[in-house]
Amino acid sequence: MPVFLFTDIEGSTALWERCRAAMATALECHDALLVEYVAKHGGRILKHTGDGIFAVFEKGDPLACALDMQRGLANQDWGEVGELRVRAAVHAGEAERRGDDYFGPTINRAHRLLEAGWGGQVLITTQAVAGVPLPPEATLKDLGSHVFKDLAAPQQVYQLCHPGLVRTEFPRLRSLSERLHNLPPQPTPFLGREKDVEEIGVRLSEGSCRLLTLVGIGGVGKTRLALQAAAEAVGAFAHGVYYVPLAALSGEEFLTGAVAEALGFAFHGREEARSELLNYLRAKEMLLVWDNFEHLLSGAAFVSEILAAAPAVKVLAASRERLNVKGEHIYEVRGMEFPAADAGEAGDGCDAVRLFVESARRPGLDLPPGRQDVLRGGQGAGADIVLISPSGELSACPEVHPLASRLAKPISMPPTRARSARMPAGNPLALSRDGLIRRASRAENSPPTKTPMNM
Ligand SMILES: Nc1ncnc2c1ncn2[C@@H]1O[C@H](COP(=O)(O)OP(=O)(O)OP(=O)(O)O)[C@@H](O)[C@H]1O
Ligand SMILES: [Mg+2]
Repeated sequence: MPVFLFTDIEGSTALWERCRAAMATALECHDALLVEYVAKHGGRILKHTGDGIFAVFEKGDPLACALDMQRGLANQDWGEVGELRVRAAVHAGEAERRGDDYFGPTINRAHRLLEAGWGGQVLITTQAVAGVPLPPEATLKDLGSHVFKDLAAPQQVYQLCHPGLVRTEFPRLRSLSERLHNLPPQPTPFLGREKDVEEIGVRLSEGSCRLLTLVGIGGVGKTRLALQAAAEAVGAFAHGVYYVPLAALSGEEFLTGAVAEALGFAFHGREEARSELLNYLRAKEMLLVWDNFEHLLSGAAFVSEILAAAPAVKVLAASRERLNVKGEHIYEVRGMEFPAADAGEAGDGCDAVRLFVESARRPGLDLPPGRQDVLRGGQGAGADIVLISPSGELSACPEVHPLASRLAKPISMPPTRARSARMPAGNPLALSRDGLIRRASRAENSPPTKTPMNM
């Protein structure tokens, strides 16, 4: 299993602003040292990331490399720059290899780990600890289990300790576990949609945008996108980011209770419940993520009440329909990028295909033997989005759903543009588990709450 080493310089932007010329010289020296240590310990630098490196150790000794690197950097005279504090993250796992680069959730996780660390610190995951030797005299300090912004399962993290390291004490990791939020960890990795996440982040940071609604058809990926954007925003809201799931609510009268439950707010009962909650929110700087609003639109005025009462509260809503309240900003969520019908192998990098392949690999889906290969290796196939229902049923549905693959047999579909953005979650064609193409049995107008696409 390959081991990955990520590094970067803490506070490099500020250093560049303070002493540009000295920083340029320092960076050259820093790069040369890292190149030397990675080669010495049997690794390979895949990328220079501006102020750091991304290296892989298919063999060799990544921890000895990280240790040497920290010691070497600490012994260097950085002139006007002063101290150059570099953080490092070591993680192991299978990763998708394309050319001389690696992609996928393992790489994202290593990146998230690096973000959480401090200059001078070397962080290591359980997966890496299991596969690499500890350098002589080195020990590991257990930093506990952490959830990162990828919202994947909690990760056990260790810090490399050694008598030769200059800095040994660090603040707590900058992981989501150290922040106020109730965002649920996700069972599957979040893929693609980088531009959407970034754009939503920008919109949420704008003072004028207090209510941003992610609008899109059922199953297009609104919930995942909202959760990911919210995870990125944790830290920007002093009093936290709270996810309010509304799918199970049978009426708008339960909205107050749903928000209170998400916040862990207990009513004391001296005043009317809604006023009590509004009073609580009044001085809060918070992001509320309301998911599946479409069946409670008649209760949307409550959102306006919150925004009026609490000037530093913002709302990110996910809904198949806009809320239609004053000041609402809309972000339209479209299907994931998927390959053209004749893209062949070149389409494999598309987000939709990657999501499909990830999903097809997942244990518990119980795909018939060989089915994954058929789906992935289909020659001359049309590029189609595929749904995988919890029962493992695969169904073709371009643009409607982000799961995709090149199917073994081309399935003729109406041209993409002819499809309505309001198309319900139902899908016109399905590839059943025995490989036969047939009409989907599911009703076109499936209820908005839980569609078979929610795995
Ligand atoms: N970017 C993504 N990365 C990984 N999985 C995704 C992504 N987008 C969507 N999915 C998966 O696709 C499925 C449908 O996505 P999601 O539940 O977010 O859709 P939705 O638009 O919220 O649907 P609904 O309108 O029914 O609430 C889920 O299983 C989700 O985990
Ligand atoms: Mg949803």
